[in-house]
Amino acid sequence: MKRILVTGSNGQIGAELIPHLRKLYGAENVLATDLQPKPLTAASEGGPYQTLDVLDAGAFSETLKRFRPDTIFHMAGVLSAKGEANPKLAWDVNVTGSYVALELAREYKTSFFFPSSIAAFGPSTPHANTPQDTIQRPSTMYGVAKVTMELLCDYYHLKYGLDTRGVRFPGLISYAALPGGGTTDYAVHIYYEALKTGRYTSYIGKGTFMDMMYMPDALDAVVKLMEADPAKLVHRNSFNITAMSFDPEGIAASIRKHIPGFAISYDVDPMRQAIADSWPDSLDCSAARDEWGFEPKYDLDRMTADMLARLKERI
Ligand code: SER
Repeated sequence: MKRILVTGSNGQIGAELIPHLRKLYGAENVLATDLQPKPLTAASEGGPYQTLDVLDAGAFSETLKRFRPDTIFHMAGVLSAKGEANPKLAWDVNVTGSYVALELAREYKTSFFFPSSIAAFGPSTPHANTPQDTIQRPSTMYGVAKVTMELLCDYYHLKYGLDTRGVRFPGLISYAALPGGGTTDYAVHIYYEALKTGRYTSYIGKGTFMDMMYMPDALDAVVKLMEADPAKLVHRNSFNITAMSFDPEGIAASIRKHIPGFAISYDVDPMRQAIADSWPDSLDCSAARDEWGFEPKYDLDRMTADMLARLKERI
């Protein structure tokens, strides 16, 4: 990778991916794009930025013609709970918009990174140690869109030789930008509330395990995958990756090691609980480990210590 265009760069991942890529590849070589008129965080400033609606194929094509990236990170998307509240919007942005991006990657011969998700699995998927290749019958529009894009990305690789690569992200925990409208968001909000009020009411029920990862590991993973030797890749779209699996009690216990009086209570949201119940409890990441050396560094306690320290400086 030498010159990169990122869509959805004001989102939870984009806001940290942009400064990360700029540090590695040079600020001028990373074009941040988003629907919004300017970068969301100070960290994302200091390099090229452009407003871009991924559904506007003409504007997208012009941008590629001008910037000439060798790689597109297509991060624009609607998250799971928002997608269930508005399935048409989820399809339009997550499939139609992603298809525009994929087709332009073919036209401009760029590599293409697509973020799939644990949501690409569903109720009939084995939930423990979920294999890389297994049943994918998701029950959310968000999941349907992710599976559609996994298949399309593989198809473009097979049919056109396009360098498409992707991961199935677990819930991502970070302090720079808040996630919006996801099911795993509770695992971010809980840290804010722990510091602000010492208590948190969880919309996800006790005993609901989901895969999670700290953002620095997610950023390292995507760069490692995109820089991996293509000859070693048996899979492409998309690799299971995870760093930990916990339920609300588990993350609360980890927070209590720093804030002993921290209290968690429950007010379960049936919609997000149903989504969480349909997703795996823990993923098998052996394909990512074997094919490109995936190796996360943060477990739950290490992440908690870092999250609380960083957030304390901010709030
Ligand atoms: N974190 C996402 C969500 O909860 C899953 O990919 O929607």
